Amino acid sequence: MNVMTNPAVFDVERIRQDFPILTQTIRGKPFVFLDSAASAQKPRVVIDAMVHAMETQYANVHRGLHWMSERTTEAYEAARDAVAALMNANDRSEIVFTGNSTGAINLLAHSYGRGILKPGQAVLISGMEHHSNIVPWQLLRDSHGIELRVAPITDAGELDMAAYEALLSDGKVGLVAMTHMSNVLGTVTPADRIVRLAHANGAKVMFDGSQAIVHRKVDVQALDCDFYAWTGHKLYGPTGIGVLWGKRDLLERMPPFMGGGDMISSVTYEQSTWAAVPHKFEAGTPAILEGIGLKAAIDYVQAIGYDAMTAHEAALTEHALSRLAPIEGVRIIGQAQDRGGVISFVLDKAHAHDVATLLDRQGIAVRAGHHCAEPLMHRFNLDSTARASFGIYTTLAEVDALADGLIRVREFFQ
Ligand code: ALA
Repeated sequence: MNVMTNPAVFDVERIRQDFPILTQTIRGKPFVFLDSAASAQKPRVVIDAMVHAMETQYANVHRGLHWMSERTTEAYEAARDAVAALMNANDRSEIVFTGNSTGAINLLAHSYGRGILKPGQAVLISGMEHHSNIVPWQLLRDSHGIELRVAPITDAGELDMAAYEALLSDGKVGLVAMTHMSNVLGTVTPADRIVRLAHANGAKVMFDGSQAIVHRKVDVQALDCDFYAWTGHKLYGPTGIGVLWGKRDLLERMPPFMGGGDMISSVTYEQSTWAAVPHKFEAGTPAILEGIGLKAAIDYVQAIGYDAMTAHEAALTEHALSRLAPIEGVRIIGQAQDRGGVISFVLDKAHAHDVATLLDRQGIAVRAGHHCAEPLMHRFNLDSTARASFGIYTTLAEVDALADGLIRVREFFQ
């Protein structure tokens, strides 16, 4: 299906009108924003929701008995309902708000890692993780005697399933912590099989869905994973708010992570008791405005629909691969069968930073570097790549601009 020629399905020009920032020119050229995987742009409804709250309906939440606090609490807690519906959570109390995906994974590493996992057990990650799904487990390894195992990936950038299964087979893995979609390769990991094999070997599963939830419908009950982490700012919402979804019985067994206000039931100098989940994990004043903005973003995305978004992205990705791959000197890193709209590439004789800088001179924004995934770079004997990533507002013409721009960059290095 060519969604670009079927406005009834997906009218990208109409969508672009919702994003005020896209009307700008950069260096006198149209702003071609191909860095949505780092952080997506925000639609007007998100901006308006946050401004409206600040202008008309703002106080601290969960504390006040006054009208304004009650209204703000309702607006903030509506975000939890929106997240629960988005992920098809069984229960709104399974939605824990954090600062971002990193906060969600660190919460899990501290609470599940130190409270439930036992020294001598292992955490199994993959060879294509973001640093945020490596370093917290290293800290746990060093402080708690956990073994850290890494399932290798193939040259195509897919999880080596035979190796993954072998690493689970001694029954020592207590937790699999794995990306659902690589922020570098675009690879979408086979979540169903990952969960099935993990559970068959006695391990729980946490997916880092920071990228995946932007591109795919995530149904945690259908996936049957145990935890799922993601962040609002990549899903067209504000920065400063992320989510850890967990099965309720697991969250209830886990000890608190941070102590403070809002997470307690009672406090004396001798002893404190905890609030019920999810509040047990939400110490301090939460990201109130960001929650309100996240709800607006989720409503926006739900109105467009994942089917349309996924189809649009598939069309962009297919077009980008067909335009970039034939350019002499360009090598695409990662050739997974199942992939989303994130494409890493290198150009012969050119450092990725120079490629990004020269594209920027043409008004085209891509990310370059190790993408917070140094071990993955080493796997491909690289220190960096350039990366183009797409959002719901990306057009085929922008993909063409990237390809044409890259041809000009290549000429520079010949
Ligand atoms: N994790 C974000 C990225 O991949 C920042 O760019």
